[in-house]
Amino acid sequence: MRILHLEDSQNDHELVCRHLSRAGVRFEITRVEGLDAFVEATKRILFDLVLADYRLPGFTALDAWAAIKDSAPPPFILLSGAIGEAAAVSAIHVGISDYLHKDELNRLERVIGRAIEVRQVRAAKDRADAELAASEKRLAEFAQHLQSTIEKERASIAREIHDDIGGSLAAAKLDLAWVSRHSTNELTQSHIQSATEMMQHAIGASQRIMMNLRPSILDQGLYAAIHWLAKSFEKRTGISTRITANSENLCAPKPVELTAYRTAQEALTNVSKYAGCGSVQIEISDADNVLTLEVSDDGKGITTLELENPCAFGLRGLRERARAVGGWLDISTVEGKGTSIILSVPLTPLRSFSDEELE
Ligand SMILES: Nc1ncnc2c1ncn2[C@@H]1O[C@H](COP(=O)(O)OP(=O)(O)O)[C@@H](O)[C@H]1O
Ligand SMILES: [Mg+2]
Repeated sequence: MRILHLEDSQNDHELVCRHLSRAGVRFEITRVEGLDAFVEATKRILFDLVLADYRLPGFTALDAWAAIKDSAPPPFILLSGAIGEAAAVSAIHVGISDYLHKDELNRLERVIGRAIEVRQVRAAKDRADAELAASEKRLAEFAQHLQSTIEKERASIAREIHDDIGGSLAAAKLDLAWVSRHSTNELTQSHIQSATEMMQHAIGASQRIMMNLRPSILDQGLYAAIHWLAKSFEKRTGISTRITANSENLCAPKPVELTAYRTAQEALTNVSKYAGCGSVQIEISDADNVLTLEVSDDGKGITTLELENPCAFGLRGLRERARAVGGWLDISTVEGKGTSIILSVPLTPLRSFSDEELE
């Protein structure tokens, strides 16, 4: 064990050495007296332990600790004459490992052992914290990557539906119209009529699917897109849906708009699946440089158990999405009274978006 001993008395130093030897500690010890020499020594050598007298010529051990405490110091033990309880407590308070009176040298080995153990535990905790933070960061990056892959995949499926299916359906509808014009047979006309209706239905369905896959309505702005979402939700479910906004020309970067749109989409899907409510209120605002979107229902509310359900990924996905654009998601819910899903994204550019995200 490499020990640095801050001590102005050679006698006391020798006493400590004798005690350590007698206790069977294998050590190398360096004695320093001045503050500069002390700091210099800690920079030069990686010590396992510091033993420090409290009062030294012109400074105290607290000054020595203050000088090194920010550079991952080793355990630092005060080994001193009486310093009073208040000083001992405040020393421990600023991070000094322990205090031992010079008359209690027989306890030195135990105090050293404990200080080293505490430090090891703390180091292990710091390592675990750092690993956890790194793993959370990796997970968030992975979630972001998945989201952007999913959006790209959706856009390409929407394109294919538009180009292949949409095109063919439109062409078939024109052909049906042609046949209708060139036939006088009543039975044929009635079949053409029902085929045209089916065709119209299929065109409507493919447009709806495309819209869900890639909200091209977002090209008309966030307000228009959320408005369209709300109106089609109201039509489909019969749940009265009110939308308010501080402006119809909301301004936000594309990835933020898409996040807001997907948040509203998932919140409304949840409302229709679970809330059992009579009405929904959507509020959007870009006031004070923060984009907020709030979807509130007056339904049955979400229980803690439901929120923590490990198989539910909708709201969890929204949290990740919000985080990916520098924002956050709040869920406020009261059992029997309703649920509010609130997305907030600061618009002052905290970070720039990659080309991939802006696609
Ligand atoms: N508006 C809501 N009203 C009542 N319960 C809700 C509402 N939104 C979500 N929930 C509950 O919270 C759970 C988690 O929602 P979500 O994360 O979207 O998962 P999923 O929709 O995949 O089940 C749902 O399973 C449901 O029980
Ligand atoms: Mg859901």
